Amino acid sequence: MSRELERIIEGLSRPQKMISPKYFYDERGSRLFEKITALPEYYLTDAELEIMREHVHEMAALIGKTASLIEFGSGSSLKTRILLENLDDLAAYVPVDISESHLWASAQQIRKEFPHLDILPVVADFTRPFALPTPTIMPVRNVVYFPGSTIGNFEKNTAIELLRVMYEEAGENGALLIGVDLQKDADIIDRAYNDSAGVTAEFNLNMLRHLNRSYGANFDLESFAHRASYDESKGRVVIELISQANQSFKIGNREFTIAEGETIITEYSQKYTLNGFAEMAADAGFAVARVWTDAEEFFSVHYYTRL
Ligand code: SAH
Ligand code: AVI
Repeated sequence: MSRELERIIEGLSRPQKMISPKYFYDERGSRLFEKITALPEYYLTDAELEIMREHVHEMAALIGKTASLIEFGSGSSLKTRILLENLDDLAAYVPVDISESHLWASAQQIRKEFPHLDILPVVADFTRPFALPTPTIMPVRNVVYFPGSTIGNFEKNTAIELLRVMYEEAGENGALLIGVDLQKDADIIDRAYNDSAGVTAEFNLNMLRHLNRSYGANFDLESFAHRASYDESKGRVVIELISQANQSFKIGNREFTIAEGETIITEYSQKYTLNGFAEMAADAGFAVARVWTDAEEFFSVHYYTRL
């Protein structure tokens, strides 16, 4: 049995069943996520784009000349384009993503838009050790870019571990540019994860479709429903699939039962305070150099250097 399957089975064997959010992202999942970013309720993308457009010159000045830009969870590199348009002397752009076909398609598109840029895509699970390619031009510094508040999809200890990986990847003289969603009115957050068009529900259920197709599971998609609720005391959204019946399902050679109303947690989406996040980054060795927010203070982008 593969390590991947062992981990999925371990998560489903806990009293509270859990599956890692990385299984949202097959080709269909990546496309559904793109649809989410265009939803009127999903304020995160608009707020982050506003920050990028408003402050890109200052960001470019901080990043400096001949840097290598390494993006974790690049998806379709939407926000990155704003940086790429303003960093015309980059040594390389290294998009890293687990969603293979989507990454290749995005990289091909960026190659057309930026024909002189050295684009070195890496298919990898960034929570496990992976090797970075060597650009043709020697970079002056590595800047790790982690937009979208994807850091919020990791629980605190794992998030700090991931920040430490980024600290290592940034290396001496390196930096981190990271998007961080902020705590705000609970209704606004609730709406962002319970959109009226039902795209987030499709995205959530797509995880089961992905596991059926790629990991030999037999989930009945009709008998699970989406639930997302903001836990204000913890500042995080809990995203779950609720079983609509007493039923069983199989994955690998293991059979599981799940009761009606019982849930599988598929994702947390942590919302931070500016100080709370800076403290977490300090635990990983980063010192905050600059923080920008949008006009409504819904979202933030932080620039960190190594302590
Ligand atoms: N950065 C983009 C996409 C965010 S969605 C944006 O801000 O819009 C999260 C992205 O991270 C997806 O493209 C997903 O495929 C990728 N991802 C999630 N978990 C991952 C993991 N463990 N390793 C590598 N990529 C991962
Ligand atoms: C990728 N990540 C930051 C998204 C989020 O908002 O936590 C994933 C997502 N889940 C449901 N909607 C969007």
